[in-house]
Amino acid sequence: TPAPATGEKRVLLAAPRGYCAGVDRAVVTVEKALELYGPPVYVRKEIVHNKHVVRTLERRGAIFVQETDEVPEGARVIFSAHGVSPAVHAEAAALQLQTIDATCPLVTKVHREAIRFASEDYTILLVGHTGHEEVEGTAGEAPENTIVVEDPAHAAAVEVPDPGRLAWLSQTTLSVDETMQTVAVLRERFPHLQDPPSDDICYATQNRQVAVKQMAADCDLMIVVGSQNSSNSKRLVEVALEYGSRDGHLVDYADEIDEAWLAGVSTVGVTSGASVPEVLVRDVLDWLEERGYADVQAVTAAQESLLFALPTELRRDLKAAG
Ligand code: F3S
Repeated sequence: TPAPATGEKRVLLAAPRGYCAGVDRAVVTVEKALELYGPPVYVRKEIVHNKHVVRTLERRGAIFVQETDEVPEGARVIFSAHGVSPAVHAEAAALQLQTIDATCPLVTKVHREAIRFASEDYTILLVGHTGHEEVEGTAGEAPENTIVVEDPAHAAAVEVPDPGRLAWLSQTTLSVDETMQTVAVLRERFPHLQDPPSDDICYATQNRQVAVKQMAADCDLMIVVGSQNSSNSKRLVEVALEYGSRDGHLVDYADEIDEAWLAGVSTVGVTSGASVPEVLVRDVLDWLEERGYADVQAVTAAQESLLFALPTELRRDLKAAG
């Protein structure tokens, strides 16, 4: 993109941005469940890490709970896109809950990798953020065999039982660059470290970061639409700043943008995390247009066409209902 004349205002709009295939599937799962079974439908944890999505589904009759034991016995519960550990499945079975598992298939893939490495007696170094739901779910597949590694500094210090029998896996929504640094530190210390059979950081996380990298150096300000608890959205702000955007902020809604951020800004970058509906991005573009940023240029890093089928349990019931 050619640089604008001094003082000229423009927006660089990243593509891809917003919904990934796993989020789309999870949100549609709750919508269809509400239509098919009628409210209330319980959802364990936020279905996806986005405030607006959760509020909208709540208004339609979804009830979000933190833990499985908050769901009345025998009721129907949906597990969020981030995945759950076998312990959570067991709790649900004990309460005779009817479960619909909206775990993203790309998270399930990492769970399978963890199960296989653990069954071969490997210790798994799981690169990710302690306390994030996805990490809890993946680690829960093999708690005795898993050590969570936060970052390069942690990788330099982590102690392992057998350096000859180690594998690494990761959360799907990390910074690609930082994860590679973490793994480089691990490999330096443990040359026998086994790689995952394929990338754990998912296509959507990667593509959104690549688009931001392409435009960051041209941006005076990067606005990332997304929620504070959304790992992939937060990483987009970090990547933007790392790759040369002068300033960067994460906002849930357009009205959280501070006018002061626009001081001296000619180019504003706009993108959104994988859990963010496009309507929220439109609101941000409208807000910017009202302030003179009407020229919107797309920066396209990749085309995405992946789609996932709905969870089997739901498809079966939808089919039965005709
Ligand atoms: Fe799945 Fe990646 Fe989205 S793991 S839920 S496709 S961010």
